[in-house]
Amino acid sequence: MIDFGRIPQERLPALLRTMPKAELHIHIEGSLEPEMIFALAKRNGVALAYPSIEALRAAYAFSDLQSFLDIYYAGASVLLHEQDFFDLGFAYLHKAAAENVRCAEVFFDPQTHTARGVAMKDVILGLSHACHRAHAEWGLQAKLILCFLRHLSEDEAMATLDAALPWREQFIGVGLDSSEQGHPPEKFARVFAHARALGLHVVAHAGEEGPPAYIESALDVLHVGRIDHGVRCVESPALVQRLARERMPLTVCPLSNVKLCVFPTLAEHNLPALLQAGLCVTINSDDPAYFGGYLNQNFVEIFAALPQLGSREAYTLARNSFAASFATSADKARWMSELDAHFSAAAAP
Ligand code: ADE
Ligand code: ZN
Repeated sequence: MIDFGRIPQERLPALLRTMPKAELHIHIEGSLEPEMIFALAKRNGVALAYPSIEALRAAYAFSDLQSFLDIYYAGASVLLHEQDFFDLGFAYLHKAAAENVRCAEVFFDPQTHTARGVAMKDVILGLSHACHRAHAEWGLQAKLILCFLRHLSEDEAMATLDAALPWREQFIGVGLDSSEQGHPPEKFARVFAHARALGLHVVAHAGEEGPPAYIESALDVLHVGRIDHGVRCVESPALVQRLARERMPLTVCPLSNVKLCVFPTLAEHNLPALLQAGLCVTINSDDPAYFGGYLNQNFVEIFAALPQLGSREAYTLARNSFAASFATSADKARWMSELDAHFSAAAAP
């Protein structure tokens, strides 16, 4: 038994940073820092719409999801070669390892690149080499999840999955991202059924800007194993009860939610209500280069904004992150033991 009452609130930021954890909702293209955008633009001879790193950063003021996506897709235009994808993936995983992330399940958006003539092979092999190197160097277990862009058609998603199948062993699942409103999960019923038949895990963004009905159809039509975001579930008490009963994980992204105006401030985020309802919530960074911080920054800032969150909630969120991962039971048990040891030591007299 961990005596959470013995851990003083002032030790919380250090505890949050040092505790072992998993990151389950990170778009690798969203870790593309302005410095790397400019370096890759130079290396690849790509013209940018902004004269300087500072001017680009100044444009990172978003009013909603779409206003962000427009800039995010433009930033990704500097990624052309396998080496670029390796460099991008390795830079993120280096930061994650330094933040005590033990397991990262990383989204990538192949359609953002293949539409510009980039070969699927270069996207997948660049990223998967970065994952293998991260494991060899730091023991970080990193896996890839291929996301379909939901503003495009299901036929295009199906063609994307087929084009990726020669590298089937390099990714563990498929996801659904991009503009949510007007693009309900059921639009992708067939391609998700195909992915499941191939033995892939399936997840979907739902209930970020979209209504609770999109969370329900992600569950009932796509049969997802996790909901990405899902914060609008609170608008349907019956749905909240179902999510709790089914232990369906929600990968919540606090800094993202404020930057994209889902909540006005971190202090008004519904994380405490989600935890109170017994949901399997995890904390994630979404697009850290655009939203003001990586995983530990998300933890430290949301805990600072919500003083009712303490060491017990920190432990629960880290434990949920391992439970909600697609890792083996043996890996989950090992990480959870490490987590227990970490909190027991923090609570020792
Ligand atoms: N792609 C990258 N970040 C996203 C988000 N927060 N929602 C939907 N699609 C995204
Ligand atoms: Zn996301």
